[in-house]
Amino acid sequence: MAKFDFVSLSETPAETLRHILDVAIRLKKQHKSTGLNDQLARGKVLACIFEKPSLRTRVSFEAAMNHLGGSAIYISPNEIGLGTRESTPDVARVLAGMVDGIMARVFEHQKLKDLAAYASVPVINGLSDYSHPCQAMADLMTAEEHFGKLEGLTLAYIGDGNNVARSLMVACAKFNMKFRISTPPGYELEDDLITRIMRQVPNLDFASAHDPRDVVHDADILYTDTWVSMGQEAEKAKRLPIFEPYQINAALLKAAPASAIVMHCLPAYRNVEITDEVIDGPQSVVWAEAHNRLHFQKGLLAVCMCGA
Ligand code: CP
Ligand code: NVA
Repeated sequence: MAKFDFVSLSETPAETLRHILDVAIRLKKQHKSTGLNDQLARGKVLACIFEKPSLRTRVSFEAAMNHLGGSAIYISPNEIGLGTRESTPDVARVLAGMVDGIMARVFEHQKLKDLAAYASVPVINGLSDYSHPCQAMADLMTAEEHFGKLEGLTLAYIGDGNNVARSLMVACAKFNMKFRISTPPGYELEDDLITRIMRQVPNLDFASAHDPRDVVHDADILYTDTWVSMGQEAEKAKRLPIFEPYQINAALLKAAPASAIVMHCLPAYRNVEITDEVIDGPQSVVWAEAHNRLHFQKGLLAVCMCGA
């Protein structure tokens, strides 16, 4: 059987994504009801490479491996020097002989592709400048728990057309959800990404607008992320005023259906892209969403590393 990398959602068939979600849901139920976990990864080791900081991704992968009976090794950026101290293909070749899977958080997406090309063990994207597939899938898991379905739901993303937005668009396309996005001019998703997804999923109900009110009026899910992603710190002063009209606040939430929920991948910059009132309010599901990073990771590891 070919090894199973989880680098990009567009390259993962919809039925495989559904299977991972189903395994994640089963493992979550088992853990919640019995406190126990199938020891699917007993004796297995996951190497976790981080070029950027992390709370959720690091802890969820380490806890997930622990729950499944395996272990994880945290590899800090300075230590490994991916592509500087040692070439990415050489790192991949070495790790593949020592561990059963590699999770990596990197700046350049190409490094994930190189790890996947040269490692004979599964490689998982723990966020790159281009995409964040584990986040998008944990988000869909959360939406499904809330609404009891995914098909037909409308997700409205408001803010920067960034890594999280790209993965959410592909995830929505894979699960027959409607995707709306509102960004400032100049911060839209790239035309080539939209063209590629529309070619893969011609029926995708997609719309974009510069006025956030145009995307929230029929939304089931309002979603935002930071306006300054990791690595863009030097652009902060320029970006903040441009994005100000895209804040998720009480007024914008009022323009959405009362049944809509609010999501944020976190970390949140409170009272910048989302107000305290909204993130701490009754429509926010951000903590369940963060906790589902653990549960989705367990399903993903079980499927791609343990053949579940
Ligand atoms: N949402 C997310 O990936 O969080 P971390 O950056 O803390 O891992
Ligand atoms: N877009 C953000 C996501 C953080 C989880 C970043 O890349 O920093």
